[in-house]
Amino acid sequence: MSGGEEHLLFFQRAVMDPYCESLPDLSIIGRLRQGRADFAIFAVRNRIPMNAPSKPIQMVDLQTQYQDIRKEVDAAIAGVLGSTHFINGGAVKEFTAHLADYLGVSEVVPCGNGTDALQIALMALDLRPGDEVITSPFTFIATAEVIALLGLKPVFADVQADTFTLDPGEVERRISPRTRVILPVHLYGQCAHMEPLLEMASHHGLAIVEDNAQAIGARYRYADRKEAMAGTIGTIGCTSFYPSKNLGAYGDGGAIMTRDAALGEKLRMICNHGSRVRYYHDVVGVNSRLDTLQAAVLDIKLKRLDDYNRRRQEAADRYDKGLAGLPEVVAPARAAWSTHVFHQYTIRVARDRDVLQNYLRDAGIPTMIYYPVPLHLQPAYKAYGYVPGDFPVSEKLMHEVLSLPMHPELTAEETTYITGKIRSFFQD
Ligand SMILES: Cc1ncc(COP(=O)(O)O)c(C=O)c1O
Repeated sequence: MSGGEEHLLFFQRAVMDPYCESLPDLSIIGRLRQGRADFAIFAVRNRIPMNAPSKPIQMVDLQTQYQDIRKEVDAAIAGVLGSTHFINGGAVKEFTAHLADYLGVSEVVPCGNGTDALQIALMALDLRPGDEVITSPFTFIATAEVIALLGLKPVFADVQADTFTLDPGEVERRISPRTRVILPVHLYGQCAHMEPLLEMASHHGLAIVEDNAQAIGARYRYADRKEAMAGTIGTIGCTSFYPSKNLGAYGDGGAIMTRDAALGEKLRMICNHGSRVRYYHDVVGVNSRLDTLQAAVLDIKLKRLDDYNRRRQEAADRYDKGLAGLPEVVAPARAAWSTHVFHQYTIRVARDRDVLQNYLRDAGIPTMIYYPVPLHLQPAYKAYGYVPGDFPVSEKLMHEVLSLPMHPELTAEETTYITGKIRSFFQD
């Protein structure tokens, strides 16, 4: 063992032990040990400055959130364990009803994760191999993956630079006789511009499947000022309860929603091996379920979702103020047609983005690049024949975007420190 490694080990022990003794729950100690140890290594390597906030800044702070709702969550989990109804237990029905109520839709179909939700939505639309689905190249891979998996053709259309969401003009240019679906992504927490897409869909007889994995709780504002929840605007909406999402489970989870009762029935059937009556199968389906433990956790967090989203918005406002007047940084735009629930707070930095990311890391500030390679340039999608230059906005964004820490627990001290560091990077 080198001298450096010994030093690190000593440092980890010194930091970890006093912290963990006060926590009685073993599984939590395990995770805290890991988190604390990472920080210790980080602190030694990077010499975190003395004016850094007292606890490590996190991209997402599920630990603090869990401590806040721990009693309620532990009791709900104990209730599920006591009932042993792990599959389709009471909590699944309760959460599903509460979510339908929250979203203002008649049909909510819980499922295994957000990727399944997208796949099942497309399966319910009676598409044929080679049918085209127009979507964004600037998103998480799951959006295009399910299209390709079902033998459909992902047709990408570029995004708007300011909102990061599908550009309706670009979508229109790509509508062909084989187009069947438009699949907008409500990226980073606000809705794509849906009304032009709804008009195109109605004109050409297309379905709209919303990828709402990142914007649950956001509200779409129609031109006539009516509002609808994100995910309830198109033919079918899909969401993810991945732990770091605005409504996150303690494992995987997802849901599909629609206002169409017949479609709702079909979606439920596909999730359940294509079956309505046990051992009788009307269509080819999958096995995709939200398990009871996750539903119990989600039901507790759903009650707090609006509050969590409000706290994200407050953190975003503090970031906006802290970064105002800095010409090198473009803060995320708020679209006129949507509220923003800030799944991510993503700035654009045209110059030295990667140098800034390293500088912030050395100051104890984690950041992420969502997404470093647009989908049309991913090796797995080479067969569709796209080449660099096809989607110039997405290709520019991949070099400019930087997502800052964002979660309801982010403090004013932390946002002040982060914006201060960004300012000193450009101004010192
Ligand atoms: C835009 C988008 N679509 C789809 C998904 C897939 O969700 P999941 O990870 O629950 O399968 C995610 C989540 O990671 C996402 O961010």
